[in-house]
Amino acid sequence: MRPTLCLYVLHENPDWYAPLAAAFDRVGLPHEQWLLGDTVLDLDTAPPRGVFWSRMSASSHTRGHPFAKDQTRGVLAWLDSHGRRVVNGRRVLDLEMSKVEQLAALRAAGFDVPRTVAVAGSTELAAAARKLPVPFISKHNQGGKGFAVRSFATHADYDAYLAGPEYEPPVDGITLLQEHLVAARPEITRVEIVGGAFVYAITADTGRGGFQLCPADACALPADGRPAGASAAAGPSLFALRRDFEHPIVARYLDFAGQHDIEIAGFEFIETVDGRLVTYDINTTTNYNAEIEAAASRPALVAVTDFFGRLLAAEHAAAAEHAAAADHAGAAGHARAAEHGEATVGQ
Ligand SMILES: Nc1ncnc2c1ncn2[C@@H]1O[C@H](COP(=O)(O)OP(=O)(O)O)[C@@H](O)[C@H]1O
Ligand SMILES: [Mg+2]
Repeated sequence: MRPTLCLYVLHENPDWYAPLAAAFDRVGLPHEQWLLGDTVLDLDTAPPRGVFWSRMSASSHTRGHPFAKDQTRGVLAWLDSHGRRVVNGRRVLDLEMSKVEQLAALRAAGFDVPRTVAVAGSTELAAAARKLPVPFISKHNQGGKGFAVRSFATHADYDAYLAGPEYEPPVDGITLLQEHLVAARPEITRVEIVGGAFVYAITADTGRGGFQLCPADACALPADGRPAGASAAAGPSLFALRRDFEHPIVARYLDFAGQHDIEIAGFEFIETVDGRLVTYDINTTTNYNAEIEAAASRPALVAVTDFFGRLLAAEHAAAAEHAAAADHAGAAGHARAAEHGEATVGQ
């Protein structure tokens, strides 16, 4: 009998894996995590058969994994070279790691994006900021979780920040200086898509949440690592389902996602006081909020498990076809021998 095929999830943050693992376990979908960071890849081995999902996050360096993204590039190239089915593959990793790439692609596709100046290194920052009116936003090209996103009311404030102890240099050396979008209501909207389909839209309350709007429950932990407990119970959630969200932007996101091989992602936009709908962030390592999931008529995790269930079924069918062809050619023994060279990474 041939082995059951598995979903392999490439990532570096076990906290974000727990809800996914629970969802896969609920439906009996075989899954395994490959934690990338300080791990070994032997290029002489073949990857196991199955489906692969890259969830390498732009904020990996903030969790002590500065090389995880580079290792993921290598692993994805290796998977591609063996023809493995990868969800959110190499193009998506590039988009995840660079807001410049996201904005350039969105702009080329006709989306309204914030006016942005990207500055490499720090010597030109103060001068480049003066290309933008105040207030303006400074953020890192490789960001995530709202890390290092700040608004400045004056250029002098920015100069002082650059010279002061709070200045955080970007991990890839690139800073984005950006038009500060003035929202009509104090919220952003995030549109979740899975496997080429719209799942739901949520709002995040920027009035109370500021810029740190990661919806994962694990992100709600305070810096000291203790459960949020009292503070989480103190007020209503920052996140809400945006019920019955029917807007032409959804079809455009799905189209864009299709063109850029993005299969699972959350697109963020702000509706401004002057009537613009401005897309500013694509989260390809998207996380789902437990309260939202409980309230949604079709939870995103159900969409995710259905999607991977379909992909694994297709892989099973392809493997069965392959085995039948091999048997027919009298090469079954050869195929079994090849399987012994299969490898795993980062366990
Ligand atoms: N240009 C902008 N104008 C106003 N608010 C912004 C702008 N860019 C980001 N923000 C706010 O900061 C949050 C985090 O910024 P974002 O670009 O999404 O970075 P990250 O990838 O870290 O989530 C956004 O959700 C939004 O609330
Ligand atoms: Mg964001």
